[in-house]
Amino acid sequence: MRELVDPVDPVVDAGRAAPFPDAGEYRAAVERVRAAAEAYYSGPDLAMDDATYDGLMARVAATEAARPAWKEADSPTEAVGAGGGVVGDVVHSEPMLSLDNVFGEDELRRWAERLEKLLGRPVAGYTVEPKIDGLAIAARYTDGVLTLVATRGDGFAGEDVTAQARRAAGLPARLREPLTVEVRGEVFMTDDDFTAAQAMRTGNGEPPFAHPRSAAAGTLRAPKRPYDAPLSFLAYSVHGVTEPMAGSAALARLAELGFATTATSAAGMPVCATVEEVYAAVQALTAARGTLGFGVDGAVVKADLPADRAGAGSSSRAPRWGVAYKFPADTRTTKLLRIEVQVGRTGVITPVAVLEPVQVGGVIVTSATLHNFDDLVRRNVRAGDTVFVRRAGDVIPEVTGAQLDLRPAGSVPFEPPADCPRCGGEIDRSQKRWRCVQGRACGTDVALEYYVARTSMDIEGLGDRILRAVVAAGLVTDPADLYDLDVPTLAALERLGEVSATKLVTNIQGSKARPLSRVLTALGVRMTGRSMSRRLAAHFGTMEALLAASVDELQRVDGVGPERAVTIAAELVELTPLIARLAERGVNMTEPVAVVTSTASLPLQRPDGTPMTVVVTGSVPGLTRDEGNAAVERLGGRSAGSVSKKTDLVVVGDGAGSKAAKAEQLGIRILPAEAFAALLTAHEDGDPDAVAEILAVPQP
Ligand code: IVH
Repeated sequence: MRELVDPVDPVVDAGRAAPFPDAGEYRAAVERVRAAAEAYYSGPDLAMDDATYDGLMARVAATEAARPAWKEADSPTEAVGAGGGVVGDVVHSEPMLSLDNVFGEDELRRWAERLEKLLGRPVAGYTVEPKIDGLAIAARYTDGVLTLVATRGDGFAGEDVTAQARRAAGLPARLREPLTVEVRGEVFMTDDDFTAAQAMRTGNGEPPFAHPRSAAAGTLRAPKRPYDAPLSFLAYSVHGVTEPMAGSAALARLAELGFATTATSAAGMPVCATVEEVYAAVQALTAARGTLGFGVDGAVVKADLPADRAGAGSSSRAPRWGVAYKFPADTRTTKLLRIEVQVGRTGVITPVAVLEPVQVGGVIVTSATLHNFDDLVRRNVRAGDTVFVRRAGDVIPEVTGAQLDLRPAGSVPFEPPADCPRCGGEIDRSQKRWRCVQGRACGTDVALEYYVARTSMDIEGLGDRILRAVVAAGLVTDPADLYDLDVPTLAALERLGEVSATKLVTNIQGSKARPLSRVLTALGVRMTGRSMSRRLAAHFGTMEALLAASVDELQRVDGVGPERAVTIAAELVELTPLIARLAERGVNMTEPVAVVTSTASLPLQRPDGTPMTVVVTGSVPGLTRDEGNAAVERLGGRSAGSVSKKTDLVVVGDGAGSKAAKAEQLGIRILPAEAFAALLTAHEDGDPDAVAEILAVPQP
């Protein structure tokens, strides 16, 4: 969890921001911050992703600290509204302040230490609530009736958005008591409402919104939309009350009056006694982020009691008693390298964005869905564009739009395919999701070839010619059908005699006993290869356990990160009917447990029983590359593709290149390929003395 909330990307690491080297660059950055803030608060299009914005702002602040003489009088670091927001004619009863940001545990602790130092005593209690990714508003009630809603604007004055805001769920038109108060909070769009709003908007021929926040901003600020996009509201503070109240008590009171609040939201608002508790609550919120049903870009930590808030006070920009703990951004920008067209197992044809790697929500993303061709054409996204990539929780990353002002000259619109890229057949375009008219049958040949291959189910004699013949005869539409083929049927096929047909049926039936790892490989689960299939099979033991695994459980397998886990889970769901058909025909769905000797340790296990990380480079006598990797696993190790400080052993054979050099440079233990082959033989012969002897060879 720690690495998820501790950004490694220098762009978002405000704590280590570098000052600009010259005044011109500083001023240009100030202008960019202003323009982005304007777009941020005004919607509907984003000008910059949040992480880039925070990074720029941090560099502006660092520059001003290093070179006070350069500081612009109205710098965004001073301004309440960070230069953004359309200033309307509603003057706020008191300025709508901003919040300072912290990134990671250390900065959080430093903030709390500073606060306690300022107070000269420990903080009596903190609250931790979600930082809603929407737009701040102030809602005024007179005698319990909603009379005026204003946006934040520049922090001092905002726009009147009363009419649109009335539609926000959670913002009552009338309170349960006739009070005169001002309530502040965030207007936003839930994930479900965002999906609905996108459908309405695109159905109307308009380009989709880049982000739920831009959708909320666009909806809030455009009173006469031809469609009715739903909005929501969560209150986080109350103003204009004479009696000071704890923040937590104030929100409880607001809930009584009929408001939805950050405390009543799915995220809740724990009250914490110590910074340790605060950090645990922040981590819990980070983990829940994708499941809340609305966008949260951080946690807001506040001193709860009025005495602590009064003691700490505020700067002109932000209170000292509260801080925003920012999560890794869920939307980032990156370059779209190319658009690929993928044909799924059921013949669905989808455009996929291949991206310059970018960290989104704590994960490196290299590809993202572009949904469908209509959408893609409407979004006008092109190869070479700087695009917004969004990854909310566990969902598959998506490209939500392009930054048109950064489009390179000479870029060309994407041409959707005229024919199915896999079989060359016709495309059915009657639905949003295009499909090859052949449906599942498109790609049957490829799937079958993969299934019977030597490294998959290894069905000897079932070559391309026979496969094509059984498919053409309509006998086989998926791998499970292979097991229904009998001798007379096969013998009746062109140029296949009784003897060969019998042999073939024996081979097909024999493949039912293959271990689960091979079945997984043969199914061609996306984002898994042979090595990953072996790891999944070894970890879960049975297909049943694997199919029941959650995305979180999948991530416990070595090498499975969030992106891969989501894909594997989705693939397995899609493959479930085929898996059931294979199981019905008696295909083995378990992985044999590795025979463990009485000493229990395998040659490539560390003393604590965990696998050594082993890289095989160059050729090992008698073994293919894949067999070499499988051997590493049989010997108790984990095979890896590249050498790093974490590598325990590098097996070096003929034709080894830079990996061997790197291992030497890092001082990693090297085992010649011949010794590795001998080690394997000794282990399989059950000769522990020989194993020990091979491993005891000292390093040169
Ligand atoms: S408290 C003076 N609580 O974050 C304290 N703000 O960066 C002001 N926001 O302008 C705000 N969720 O629009 C607070 N639970 C929350 C919030 C929250 C979102 C926004 C708000 C504010 C911005 C500050």
